[in-house]
Amino acid sequence: MPLILNRQDVMSVLTMKDCMAVVEQAFLELAGGTADLPLRTAIKPQDGLSLYMPAYLKQSNALACKIVTVFKNNPARFQLPTTIGTVLLQDPETGKVICIMDGGYLTAVRTGAASGVATRYLAREPEESTVGIFGAGVQAKMQLWAMAEARKVGRAMVFDISKEAAENFSREMAEKLDLMVAVASAPEVLLDADILCLATSSALPLFDGNLVKPGTHINGIGSHTPNAREIDTALVTRAKFIGDSKEACFGEAGDILIPIQEGAISESHFYAELGEIISGSKPGRSSKEEITLFKSNGLAVQDAATAKLVYEKALEKGLGMQVEIFTES
Ligand SMILES: NC(=O)c1ccc[n+]([C@@H]2O[C@H](COP(=O)([O-])OP(=O)(O)OC[C@H]3O[C@@H](n4cnc5c(N)ncnc54)[C@H](O)[C@@H]3O)[C@@H](O)[C@H]2O)c1
Repeated sequence: MPLILNRQDVMSVLTMKDCMAVVEQAFLELAGGTADLPLRTAIKPQDGLSLYMPAYLKQSNALACKIVTVFKNNPARFQLPTTIGTVLLQDPETGKVICIMDGGYLTAVRTGAASGVATRYLAREPEESTVGIFGAGVQAKMQLWAMAEARKVGRAMVFDISKEAAENFSREMAEKLDLMVAVASAPEVLLDADILCLATSSALPLFDGNLVKPGTHINGIGSHTPNAREIDTALVTRAKFIGDSKEACFGEAGDILIPIQEGAISESHFYAELGEIISGSKPGRSSKEEITLFKSNGLAVQDAATAKLVYEKALEKGLGMQVEIFTES
């Protein structure tokens, strides 16, 4: 019988630490050839967009498909959010759907987790790191949570074009992580941060990449279409470029596609997939001065690994509701 888990159920069992462990394994499987990750399928019904993101991780025994819908008229016409995510988890042995869960919180945590894993493998490790966050939305919060798992964070700084959003972020995250979180200007963030997380809704570069300090590690998670980017050509050119997936980066990441179109770099500037760094088949950071850049587009393997984790934790805790939807005639 499929188990139905709502957002509260997912929130009550999913921690960043656990999520980082399964997401790391998912990236390893992707690099090692034991993951099936077909391209995301898009359908455009009426005024909306419906995306289907399937994945199968053989070693983790996780088979799932996330449905993400973006319907701009939802808030005004139906009092529903613009974006809704739902994950169907299947039994890889029988194909049966064993769990249907809310995918909104799960997506945010698994996105944070990917940056957390990248940071653990690529960032310098001073005694205490200063983390700079661009954007103060849902994703940005998860990015900071993940940074606090990946490194000992001394303090954090946040910049958002909405001062109110930055102030709310600062209050909420300082309390959640028991950390000093200052609201700052963009140049202040760039001057002090050892690690930068870019998690905005901007389609244009957030700052002049020449201002980024040598030795900085950057997680870029925001833009995800060929014509949009958060990171400018100067920064991409200066950085060692690691992506979640080569195919996804060359299919949808303006951050690397635009500098290539401009002739500033060639395709060979893409250094490695994160899984290759984790497996050790390609070395990570080569010096204290090197700038490392992780570009995250968001992969269904992250969703599948996280959904399986959530399902198992929910079963342990007896959460959710079992509903029989398959009856033999
Ligand atoms: N890589 C992934 O796996 C993944 C997963 C989910 C979402 N995302 C992307 O992450 C981004 C953030 O998502 P969200 O849900 O947190 O959005 P959100 O709307 O909740 O927050 C975005 C924030 O960015 C701020 N912002 C916009 N332009 C800015 C700029 N130039 N400088 C500083 N701040 C700026 C906005 O004021 C807002 O507070 C989106 O682009 C989303 O598509 C990526």
